Amino acid sequence: MRFDTKRVVITGGTGGIGQTVVELFAREGAQVMFSDHSEEDCSEYCDNLRARDMQTRYLAGDLRQKKFCEALIAEAVTQFGGIDILINNAGIIPRGTIIETTDDMWFSALDVNLTAVFFLCRAAIPHMQQAGAGAIVNTSSTWGIYPGPGHVAYCTSKAAVAALTKNLGRDHAGDGIRINAVCPNEVNTPMLRSGFQRRGIDPDNAIAELGKTVPLGHVAEPEEIADVIAFLASEEARYVCGTTIEVSGAKPVYG
Ligand SMILES: NC(=O)c1ccc[n+]([C@@H]2O[C@H](COP(=O)([O-])OP(=O)(O)OC[C@H]3O[C@@H](n4cnc5c(N)ncnc54)[C@H](O)[C@@H]3O)[C@@H](O)[C@H]2O)c1
Repeated sequence: MRFDTKRVVITGGTGGIGQTVVELFAREGAQVMFSDHSEEDCSEYCDNLRARDMQTRYLAGDLRQKKFCEALIAEAVTQFGGIDILINNAGIIPRGTIIETTDDMWFSALDVNLTAVFFLCRAAIPHMQQAGAGAIVNTSSTWGIYPGPGHVAYCTSKAAVAALTKNLGRDHAGDGIRINAVCPNEVNTPMLRSGFQRRGIDPDNAIAELGKTVPLGHVAEPEEIADVIAFLASEEARYVCGTTIEVSGAKPVYG
């Protein structure tokens, strides 16, 4: 029970990686508050967890709203009496070159992938400072470190998350707060599968084909990312701070 008594907030909790992270923390003893966009999906998922003996709480809302980001942290502090771990997992992937990227795609990517992380960290850090301890795990991407083709808004937002993580990690190490980011390459979740579906390609076949391009032999499953997120949030990573961890199966974005 690595996370016994730990009070954890997880964004994007009903998504592909998010569900795996929520369940991992719940199984390992944490008090979990997850969030996602849809009230209906959150409620249904919370019931589903309860039926499998995992007690969680949730707050549904739009991370593009500063008020919601602040309310999520405030709600966790009210319900749990504090916050020990923040997992900034929610994200969106507008696809396109700069010519194909509309204002809405650009601002949505920055609002969800970057600015929400800023609002959530800014709201959570004072509580962690007060406790003299805390851990934050952000979600960047290998595509933020080595920008891949045709995803200008996404890569820019994820690069900024990596920079924000290193900056905050350095600024708050002295407060006992460790801030790191995980950088997955491709992961078998709705985010990846929806790209194939949109192009009329069968996602199962496409993921199997894509797996052949990964030196470790397969596209990452959500559990393989969740395990690294949990490691970064755990005591086992007590000397890991202000850094990004690539979880790519040795697959380069390019080169
Ligand atoms: N799947 C991949 O190949 C991959 C690769 C690298 C990084 N990532 C990152 O991992 C994280 C999780 O992605 P995933 O693959 O599980 O995708 P996903 O689409 O399954 O889950 C993302 C979740 O974020 C939520 N979300 C999006 N916008 C929101 C908003 N405005 N307000 C509240 N919630 C919102 C969605 O509803 C969804 O449940 C993301 O940050 C993503 O960028 C994914």
